Amino acid sequence: MMLITNQDKKIDIKYLENFSLTNDEGADVIQGLISIPKSLPSKYFYDRLGSELFEKICDLPEYYPTRTETSILTTASKEIADITGICELVELGSGSSTKTRLLLSAYDSLGKPWQYVPIDVSSEILKNTALQLHEEYDNLSILGLVGTYEQALLQLPSSSLSQRMIIFLGSTLGNFTHQQSDLLFNEVRDILTVGDYFLLGIDLQKPVDILENAYNDSQGITAAFNLNMLCHINRCFDGNFDINLFKHQAIYNQEKQQIEMYLYAQKYHKVRLDKLDLNINFKENEPVLTEISRKFNLNQMQEFLANHQLKTIKYWTDENKYFGLILTQLCQ
Ligand code: AVJ
Repeated sequence: MMLITNQDKKIDIKYLENFSLTNDEGADVIQGLISIPKSLPSKYFYDRLGSELFEKICDLPEYYPTRTETSILTTASKEIADITGICELVELGSGSSTKTRLLLSAYDSLGKPWQYVPIDVSSEILKNTALQLHEEYDNLSILGLVGTYEQALLQLPSSSLSQRMIIFLGSTLGNFTHQQSDLLFNEVRDILTVGDYFLLGIDLQKPVDILENAYNDSQGITAAFNLNMLCHINRCFDGNFDINLFKHQAIYNQEKQQIEMYLYAQKYHKVRLDKLDLNINFKENEPVLTEISRKFNLNQMQEFLANHQLKTIKYWTDENKYFGLILTQLCQ
């Protein structure tokens, strides 16, 4: 769908093939709910309300990651653009591109036509953001792709420019298990050509109280975000989850170095998901794992990236070492 075309600036939005959040017809929901302990896929956080709540989380006093990554990007963006020169910027999970604007400004200042390829599951956010960015930047063409990372990486059109940089910010990697990260980095490696770049933002290991407070905020926004997943699942699968029967709690698992977000059933009860023909019993105090958010070590991550041919060119962190940004380049 071509939205706007000027001489050398255009906006195009494409739906990736087979795109639907529920295209596996809830197999992942069934799998999670019949497992012990029970779990639900994190992708169900992000309906319209969920995305709004996440934006609110980013502004919470206890939630340091967004603020910290923004401050790092404020100092690093120009340097990154100078190192890579003009390139096509592909963003996995762009959302409203708020932090990315710092990078976009740096690239636009290079004064040559270039392209931004934001990828997100929300077509609405993509379209609105694309229209705004079109107004804001002089040299920028936008190709928005609606779909998941996996679909986007498999269906990405070849680069419009001689170089490309994939960016993955916000420590979204934290939601992936080690094995899933390995797969993702393999896919990234496979669609880059030697000399291309990959920019990764990661949340770093730090004292437990800071971590647990960031995911159990005093205003209860994270609790609302967590519980909203049940409403979203009700809508997708004709379910009857009662959010009043669940309580939010996030804990830091020291051994696995990850935050684990849970919903605890407050009493014994049954839930039915009609579309899936699924009946589930919940025991009193039974947890449902809705998200892991892994916390990383900068050196270990550089090693892991290097194992995927992604060589660190430079990295940045803040004065507290709360968050890291790593610029890597695909080597032979
Ligand atoms: C978007 C996955 C980076 O793990 O910190 C925030 C999501 N969950 N508060 C994170 C989230 C609860 C966030 N990520």
